[in-house]
Amino acid sequence: MKETARAARQEGHVLGLVPTMGALHEGHLSLVQRAQTECSRVAASIFVNPKQFGPTEDFAKYPRAFENDVEKLQKAAVTFLFAPDIAEMYPSGFTTHVEVEGLSAKLEGAARPGHFRGVATVVMKLLQIIRPNFAYFGRKDAQQAQVISQVTRDLNLDTEIVICPIVREEDGLALSSRNAYLNAEERKAATVLYFALKAVKDQIAVGVRDSLQLQSAMNKVLSAEPRARVEYAAIVDAETFEPVTRVGRAAYALITAYLGKTRLLDNMLITPVGANSEEFVVEL
Ligand code: PAJ
Repeated sequence: MKETARAARQEGHVLGLVPTMGALHEGHLSLVQRAQTECSRVAASIFVNPKQFGPTEDFAKYPRAFENDVEKLQKAAVTFLFAPDIAEMYPSGFTTHVEVEGLSAKLEGAARPGHFRGVATVVMKLLQIIRPNFAYFGRKDAQQAQVISQVTRDLNLDTEIVICPIVREEDGLALSSRNAYLNAEERKAATVLYFALKAVKDQIAVGVRDSLQLQSAMNKVLSAEPRARVEYAAIVDAETFEPVTRVGRAAYALITAYLGKTRLLDNMLITPVGANSEEFVVEL
């Protein structure tokens, strides 16, 4: 992969990378499509990274659909697919890890100790192997995207990180490989994350900026769905992921909830239109 990517760069191509863990859906493919508009060669990677799963998490049963994935990537005109095995990525004697301090310990990091260390390490390796001009990530995993942006800035990588919008089902549920775990009733109830975020959007639209008020709008919707067990529902600064008392700078409304045994994430980005603006753009 290193040689292939180097050859593409030497031929003058603009190289894009879309890292994934496979079980590809339209969310992943939207990243590929975005890459196709900005790059002359697009690489995708499929690697279910054991280092980002906790000991009690779903590494063993994480959905794997390699043949289907290859077909989807071919249809999307991806030039290179990098699908290493575990021993290739982590040969015996592997001891170096990438840790983003602070950010990695909050929210998703607090709920999943070691998760972002695993993500940062594998993404660093992928970026070093392929050395793309651009790498594409989904805002669906907003904190992950921020962790990766931080790594590339702190370690002076040449790759530009591009964060892409969330692709949703028609009823609002954010696409995720883990949606496959939901039974019919859980699937129906899972839209509650989207509707809770929409409630925040409505509050923003009528001028509410106070986080407690925004949070209670979220919680009201979430608590009306008995099948959802909320892990956190928070309004945080979009860079630091620290809780904010009032929305002024760019912020995320973040929700993590269990539907049965399935842990789902969703978020909404709230951005001021201009400096010191009281007007906000909201992206679900
Ligand atoms: P995975 O969950 O397979 O997701 C790969 C990429 O697709 C991530 O950047 C994720 O944010 C994006 N994505 C997932 N669902 C999306 C949706 N509904 N809309 C838009 N983008 C979406 O995230 C990972 O893999 C791994 O942690 C990885 C970065 C590959 C490192 O192992």
